[in-house]
Amino acid sequence: MIQTERSVFGCTIIELPKVYNQAGSITSLSGNIHIPFEIKRTYYLYDIPGGEVRGGHAHQELEQLVIAASGSFDVMLDDGVNRKIVNLNRPYIGLFIHRMIWREISDFSAGAICLVLASLEYDKGDYFRDYQEFLKAKLM
Ligand code: TYD
Repeated sequence: MIQTERSVFGCTIIELPKVYNQAGSITSLSGNIHIPFEIKRTYYLYDIPGGEVRGGHAHQELEQLVIAASGSFDVMLDDGVNRKIVNLNRPYIGLFIHRMIWREISDFSAGAICLVLASLEYDKGDYFRDYQEFLKAKLM
């Protein structure tokens, strides 16, 4: 039995504040207020060639919010038992991803920007890059 907070069902869509302006909209968010963690790092994927798949890993501790800052893409989430695919295509919609969730990001539109807010600094030791190892740790 996988706890909800570590299952794909706990990976929820968060609607972020959007200030509409005729001259262009703005979204501002703060850690621990709009999203359930303090933001320690921000990074973004861009210049992604057509047909490319990113991700293909899980994190032991890291939690993230993924936003399609521009364009669209699909995020496949896998908790070792259940899978779900979420299409992101709005800059004011975030997908919260718990620790210990396998993810793959695909079907990037041309010029897509995948913005990621992360709860921890980069640590290559935090990654599961082998799906079988992830499964073993998950189902233990
Ligand atoms: P990775 O997390 O595997 O990217 P993705 O899941 O999008 O396919 O990281 C790709 C490379 O970038 C890898 O060599 C590590 C490096 N990297 C950093 O140096 N800092 C970071 O914050 C991130 C996320 C990656």
